[in-house]
Amino acid sequence: MTNTFSVALVDEAREALREVVKETPLQFNRGLSEKYGAKVYLKREDLQAVRSYKLRGAYNRMRSLTADEKKNGIVAASAGNHAQGVAFSCAELQVRGTIFMPRNTPRQKLDRVRALGGDLVSIELSGDTYDEAYAAARKLSDEKGAVFVHPFNDPLVIAGQGTVGAEILEQLKGEQLDVLVVPVGGGGLMSGAGSYVKAKSQTTKVFGAEPAGAPAMAEALKAENPVTLEKIDTFVDGAAVKTVGDLTLSLTKEVAEEVLLIPEGKVCAEMISLYQRDGIVAEPAGALSVAALDDLADKIKDKTVVCVVSGGNNDISRYPEIIERSLVYQGLKHYFMVNFSQRPGALKKFLNEALSPTDDITLFEYTKKNNRENGPALIGIELAKKDDLAPLLKRMDTLGMSYELLEKDSPIFRFLI
Ligand SMILES: Cc1ncc(COP(=O)(O)O)c(C=O)c1O
Repeated sequence: MTNTFSVALVDEAREALREVVKETPLQFNRGLSEKYGAKVYLKREDLQAVRSYKLRGAYNRMRSLTADEKKNGIVAASAGNHAQGVAFSCAELQVRGTIFMPRNTPRQKLDRVRALGGDLVSIELSGDTYDEAYAAARKLSDEKGAVFVHPFNDPLVIAGQGTVGAEILEQLKGEQLDVLVVPVGGGGLMSGAGSYVKAKSQTTKVFGAEPAGAPAMAEALKAENPVTLEKIDTFVDGAAVKTVGDLTLSLTKEVAEEVLLIPEGKVCAEMISLYQRDGIVAEPAGALSVAALDDLADKIKDKTVVCVVSGGNNDISRYPEIIERSLVYQGLKHYFMVNFSQRPGALKKFLNEALSPTDDITLFEYTKKNNRENGPALIGIELAKKDDLAPLLKRMDTLGMSYELLEKDSPIFRFLI
């Protein structure tokens, strides 16, 4: 192990965090266990005091501030959950904090930071991604000579996140842990919990789950250096970073078998399953580890598996987008541009002869134009099963219809969802 991580640092953090951090449940999950022929447990960090494990690292770093550092206040940058951990710790330790967050941070997270930090915390909205907020925060902390509480690349933050691993091993009461799956953003949880578990249980295989639209750790592992991604999809807001840390990269390299890339649509489908099957409200980053199980199906058969459900701060206004992305990912929702002849009866023919009784129109945009032969319509169709697409296309072809099935990466498609 490198000198940035030690079991002793985690054990020490565990003692110090007892008063502020909840020991979250490790729950056996019957549905997932049956699905994968494994024994699957969920570590419910969505039930943590600020609804994510990020409190652990933030508090562990901030409890070690000196009196002078406390007087000077701290600066932090966060996509939302670290901010809540920092705000909670500011209130607990009576330290002033300035927290930089991207402008597109979901409102629910901003409201929670304000509620937790009260007058002690001020929020600065800056940039479109975590990394832009980070740059602005670093500038202020340098100017003020204030401590910057890093969300992942700090030994004490990593040790705090490591307490998740310590709890899991204790809660398994000696049962062998075969596979641990953790979400990866900057890599703090992987570094802390992954390293702790590997140190105590060498045979455990640790896997990371990273959003496919923000593969900063996967790319850094390939390049053997933290690389900065030019453009990322910020949908999985908790785990979408452009650059991982040098400490977190070296620890991840040591402990992770692999960092799997999980498509955002799959994350959405898993968020919905977690809710419908288990009543668990996970945020996108919180569902990453469970969404990775399909990719691990062969490796986890008959094994004991723990997935860390890392957070539950989901803004309710995001659900329509989550449902839409999930349907598209599952091949159940499609969009077409259809060029209808403007003769009377063309639409009726489409409805009666192209659509089957279970093909459901969810969007229909059409404006009749005078003096034109044809008029384009934008149509959204939800299918009962993925396999219903081919027969639908065949019926449209047989009717001689002129249409285009919109590709997921086309501009109109991106406008729609
Ligand atoms: C809910 C949730 N899961 C996972 C992550 C990824 O974090 P890490 O930087 O520790 O990899 C974050 C980061 O903020 C998060 O909020």
